[in-house]
Formats: sequence, structure tokens, C-alpha cells
Amino acid sequence: MCGIVAYVGPKDAAPILLEGLQRLEYRGYDSAGVVVSNKGLKVRKVKGRVADLAKVVPVRFKGGLGIGHTRWATHGVPSDVNAHPHLSADERIAVVHNGIIENAGELRAKLEADGVVFASETDTEVLAHLIAAAVDENESLEEAVRKTLKSIVGTYGIAVIDAERPGEVVVARNGSPIVLGIGEKEMFAASDVAALVRYTRQVVHLEDGELAVLKADGFHTFASDARETAKEPLTVDWDAGHYDTGGYEHYLLKEISEQPETMTRTMSGRLDERFHVAHLGGLNMDARETRGFRRVKIIGCGSAYYSGQIGAQLIEELARIPSDAEPASEFRYRNPVVDPDTLYVAISQSGETYDTLAAVQELKRKGGRVIGIVNAVGSAIAREVDGGIYLHAGPEVSVASTKAFTSTSVAFALLALHLGRVRDLSPADGRRIVEGLRKLPGQIEQILGQGERIAELAKKYAPHPSMMFVGRVRGYPVAREGAQKLKEISYVHAEAYPASELKHGPLALIGPDMPTVAIVPDDELLDKNLTTLGEIRARGGQVLMVGHREPDAKLADDVIVIPKNEIELDPILLTIPLQLFAYHAAVALGRDVDKPRNLAKSVTVE
Ligand code: AGP
Repeated sequence: MCGIVAYVGPKDAAPILLEGLQRLEYRGYDSAGVVVSNKGLKVRKVKGRVADLAKVVPVRFKGGLGIGHTRWATHGVPSDVNAHPHLSADERIAVVHNGIIENAGELRAKLEADGVVFASETDTEVLAHLIAAAVDENESLEEAVRKTLKSIVGTYGIAVIDAERPGEVVVARNGSPIVLGIGEKEMFAASDVAALVRYTRQVVHLEDGELAVLKADGFHTFASDARETAKEPLTVDWDAGHYDTGGYEHYLLKEISEQPETMTRTMSGRLDERFHVAHLGGLNMDARETRGFRRVKIIGCGSAYYSGQIGAQLIEELARIPSDAEPASEFRYRNPVVDPDTLYVAISQSGETYDTLAAVQELKRKGGRVIGIVNAVGSAIAREVDGGIYLHAGPEVSVASTKAFTSTSVAFALLALHLGRVRDLSPADGRRIVEGLRKLPGQIEQILGQGERIAELAKKYAPHPSMMFVGRVRGYPVAREGAQKLKEISYVHAEAYPASELKHGPLALIGPDMPTVAIVPDDELLDKNLTTLGEIRARGGQVLMVGHREPDAKLADDVIVIPKNEIELDPILLTIPLQLFAYHAAVALGRDVDKPRNLAKSVTVE
């Protein structure tokens, strides 16, 4: 959450910071601010969007050193005053911060007892005052930051400048990402490569506990005990164009529409038509080891968790290994039993979600074998796990996850095929799955072709205050993801239930005001699902069915018919109409589709 950008070099920092913040706005967008150094610090910050900030930054806002921030409020309401950067009382030190300082209350009380007057309600401001006190004692900026951070409990990604050292920025990371960007006689830093790719594709990821000093002619990194650390720059695969809307009205529609290509990339070079297997070299595991696991435990948050439920089902069906998915946030807090015969799988688009990262660290600490299914290359979770599968879905900018969800589900199909074929999955079944996977991109194109009709249906159903989503077994995670998409971007209340559970309680909610979206694939549970539709209709509930054929009797008010694949892979396709439905419902209701209220793209706090 929140975005950080920093620049030092021969150009004016302000336009670079504003452009970078614009690209990071999907990470947090309730207030924004910049500071540049030019014979003292010049600050502009506002409640609102980066566009609002740009309006108050004057043309003559000169200075080749600066830091900027876009905020997602944790301590203190969104306001001009609480927006970052935060300054020390003498206006010498400026700090921007992502994360949460847990002992801020205690530190604030001590500083106030020493006579410091705070300008804001934020936890971040303590950093500015503490660093200022350390530089006053003639510490260098890097030493002042390093020593201050020793007294901090919590998470942070920070960038700090000192009015009296106009040629350097100090950055540090602990639980909240910081990436350095290496330019030609200029240096950048940001909380996400999205802010850097317009200027450079040579980047360095800081590790937790690491700090860096950036000057126009280079950088050096060091650990919290002041030891220098050695870093190898990475080349980012994506350029600035990958972060544009590409002519679409919203990132979300662009990302939904990209799915035929993104899942092709997820499969690329990994399917073997000769032995009907999946090649997953990144798992770093030989066949003997792969056969040894007796359980699979999948962890992730939000939509990543729902794709994990699809994954658990795929692995049980194809590899016959007991598997289940659990929210990473729950898992990490319940002191889990970590079993050496279990393969743990952590899922994350961003690779930075704090709860998932903390769960991985807990697993590693207890000796668990953890692989990752991650989109962001080089991200914290990708670096922490023992091996894994990169999605190669490209940058996902819209807060609601779509292409990463389907690519994760495809990655699980590859993993299930891999685990299955070293066990008892027959070559014939292997071939069936490989062929099914190959068909997915074309079938998604066909579903995308129904966009206009789905938009009409979304307009029809969007005015209802509440919607029920139901599915059975393979359809249940699809229903959960459909409800999640609808509620997060349209703010229509949506509940997802296993269809079998409806009559155990939630059926009481069904009536003319509560339509149901029913996931009804053409599988062995079709008749049971059709019975559920009858029960809903008998209570006056409208039904929008998503499935593979029109039901014989009039069991649904509307039906979205999609192409059929193998039953194990159908959930991936069933998700697509629900993404389009949520998107068009949000548009019909005039919502801010890409930046829904109260949310942020990467949740890097607990
Ligand atoms: C998805 O639409 C959500 N915005 C959210 O649930 C997301 O999937 C979750 O926060 C996990 O993010 P991650 O994949 O980056 O870890």
C-alpha cells in the first residue's frame, strides 16, 4: 500500500516524482505529496489524487533531489496535514514512509516530553524528528537513518532527504518494498518498478533490513549493522507501455481482455506433448522428491486464496494428493503444525502481500518446504521461497485481480499435471489436460466476444443492493471470486455460498430483491445444481446462470453460455464472464473501477 518515488540527478525531480506517483497511484490514493531540495526543502502535499497534487506544484519547483508519496491511510485520516512527506521541526529532514510503525505511540510520547511539537497524526512523523535529532549530533544522514531504525518496531519502506545534503537520498526497507533504479548519472528509487520503467530497466531490490545511499553517480547498500552488502542489478522485462491502459477505458478491461495472451505466457515452454507432462524447472525438485509429498497446503489472501481453492481441487483430482487452501493471514496466526511431508504453496500476484510473506517466513522458520506462485519477478515472496512458478502475466495495475487470478489457476493446472504424472495420472489423462490447456486462450476469446451481452446483463442486475453467488465443488471458488470482484469494484453487496449450503440458512435471504448468480458447469453435479436453481426460483429469486448450456426447463431468467473444456479446467473459463459482469456493473454504477474506495493493490501491512 502507499507508493514511494525518489530521484537524485541533473534533472528537475518534481516532474519525475509526479509521473512516478501517477504510476503508483493504484497502490494507495487518498493523499499525495512531494518535496524537493533547493536551498531548503520545498513541500507540496494534498488530500486527494496525484492529479490534485500536480495542480498545486508550481512550474518553478526546481531541484534535482526529491522524494514523493501517494498514501493509503493507516494512522490518521486522509488530509493535507497527514499526507507525506513529513518534516522535522527545523524543516531539515523530510521522510516518506510505507508500512506501520508499531511503537509510534511510545516514541511520540518520548519526543513530546522532550518538547517536540507534532504537525500530523501519523506514525511516520516520529521518523523525521528522530533522524533530525541524530543528524544534529553530527551523524551522516545514512548513520542517522540507520541508528533511528534500530529503535523502530514495525514495517517500513522509507526515503529520506536532508536539506543540508542536497546530493543524496537514503532509503531503507523492512517488510515494505524498495527498488533502486540505476540511470545514466542519475538514480531513482520506488516502492514498485512501475514507477521506474520509464527511466530505466536496471533495478536492484533491497532486502529486509537493508539500507541504501543514492547519489547521482551511483549507490551503495548496507545492512542494519552497517556492513556493506553486494547487489547484482536485474533487468526488468516490462517497459512503460505495459503500464499504460493501451487504449482501453480502464486498466481492468485491458487486463481482462489480455487473458488469452497472459495465460499463453504462463504455459509457454512448460507443456510437453510427448510425455503429456508439465516442465516446471523453477520448482527445484527432482521426481523422487516430488513423489514424496503426502499433502499440499496452499496459502494466499483474497483472490489469491480463491485461486488456491481452485488449485487444491485440481491437485486432488489430477494428482490424488489431499490438498486444501487457507487464507495466509489466518494460517500465520494459528501457530500451524508444519509437516515435512507437506508441500506448501504460497500464491501472490504482487509477491509483497505482508500476511502471505509472514506466513512463508513462519513456514521456513519451522523447516517447511515452500514454493511460490508469483507474478512479480524478484519480489519479496519470490525471493523467500524454495522454488516456484512465475506467472509471466505482466504488470497488473487495476486493484481488482483478473489476469493474475486466471494465470494462477493455469499455473495450478500445470502443477497438478506435474504432480499427477510423477504419480498415477495416466498418459491419456495427461494428454487430455495438455490439450485442454492449449484450448483455453481461444475459448477465452469466445467469451470476451460476449462482452456486450454481459454488459447488458450487468446493467439489468447492478441496481439490486445485494446478490448471491452459488457454486458446487469446482464451481464454489468461482462463485467466491465472482462475488469478490462484484463487491470490490461495484460496492454491491455479494455473498458466495456452496450451492449445497443454501438451504441450511441463506435461502432465507432469497426473494425478488436478491438475485442469484449460479455457476452451473456441465459436470456430474449438473442435476443437483439445477435442483438448487428450482429452489431459488420457487422463492421468487431471479437467477443468472453461467454454464455450458441452457437448462431444459425455465430454471434461469438469464443464461451466459460459455465453451466447454475438460471438467477440471472449466473453473478457469467460468471465471471470465463474472469478471466482465463485475466490470460492467461497476461502470453502470459510475464507480472508480481501477481504484475502488478503501482498497489498495498490494497490502503490505498486517
Ligand atoms: C483481488 O481482486 C484483490 N484486490 C485482493 O484480494 C488480492 O488478490 C489480495 O490482496 C492478494 O494480493 P496478492 O496476490 O498480490 O498477494
